[in-house]
Amino acid sequence: MNILITGGAGYIGSHTARALLEQGHKVCVFDNLSRGHKEAVQRTVGLEQLTIASLHDTDRLTQVLLSEGIELVIHLAAFALVGESQTRPEMYFRNNVLGSQSLLSAMNQANVHKLIVSSTTAVYGTPRQMPITESFERAPVNQYGRTKLEMELSLEHAVSQSDLAVVALRYFNAAGAHPNGDLGEDHHPETHLIPITLQVALGQREQLEIFGDDYATPDGTCVRDYVHVCDLASAHICAMDVLSSGKVQYFNIGTGAGTSVSEVLDACRKVSGHPIPSVAGIRRSGDPDILYADNSKAVSELKWSPKYTSIEQIVETAWKWHSESPSGYRSG
Ligand code: UFG
Repeated sequence: MNILITGGAGYIGSHTARALLEQGHKVCVFDNLSRGHKEAVQRTVGLEQLTIASLHDTDRLTQVLLSEGIELVIHLAAFALVGESQTRPEMYFRNNVLGSQSLLSAMNQANVHKLIVSSTTAVYGTPRQMPITESFERAPVNQYGRTKLEMELSLEHAVSQSDLAVVALRYFNAAGAHPNGDLGEDHHPETHLIPITLQVALGQREQLEIFGDDYATPDGTCVRDYVHVCDLASAHICAMDVLSSGKVQYFNIGTGAGTSVSEVLDACRKVSGHPIPSVAGIRRSGDPDILYADNSKAVSELKWSPKYTSIEQIVETAWKWHSESPSGYRSG
């Protein structure tokens, strides 16, 4: 199939591009490189398949869809940092909501009717019960989650007006790196737990600050569902088989198991062989105590299951990436 990935130069996009190529698909990437990396595209689809342009440029999008004979779009281009979304809400609205609407217009003009999009756990806010199923109320508590909810609502409207087929994958905490060691997480600034912890092991930071150790969890630190980025990538491939006209179908993509910040830290210590000093700090605003997925809908309907089921396996791949490329893609 001819597939366009928006945000294909990013962390999840580059892993997804490689997984699709391995399945024999033709893949093009549309990315403005504001957060993605040219090197990641070079290592996957090749620079000749990259269009560097803004998602707001509907005409350019339409032109790429038509000239490349695109049959399916995988829409991953978005800003995804909860903290940043709170301080720059308009920027998140513009990119995540208006950008998605521009893509929908372009797809409409180019007669492309298949769409797989990234959504997030953040649409659920702070549910009282765990694990989280897809039928839980959508009640985001931060601007990032609100923009993804807006996007979901726009998609629901779009399918009611056309024969568009949509699958929205609600990712839990993306983690790890490609086992080859040549694709991985490279954000500036980095805010995510595993890369930060491994940067301490590499001597790039002095210590890990644990954001709160007084949560209502077994060891007092927050619990999240860390899902390997290659497992996220394979979920997009499974999603291609269930696309159905006039529907938006939602799936939680998580392992179904929760891991605490302290457990992640222990795994990083074990895998890196470094003591990794840490200090307990204050809570980060907007962090729920516990979030983990009920992934049974993805398992039964998408026929998807995660290959990486332990935090140590996930951290091993992240450690390979960070230790072999300590400056990320700039390491060469
Ligand atoms: N944490 C620390 N210290 C750090 C960094 C993080 O203790 O230096 C803690 C956080 O407080 C949180 C956990 O580690 O409890 C995970 O934090 P991340 O920043 O790695 O990830 P988040 O759970 O905040 O957010 C991620 C994605 C979002 C997505 C969310 C879904 O970045 O886009 O998962 O659960 F919405």
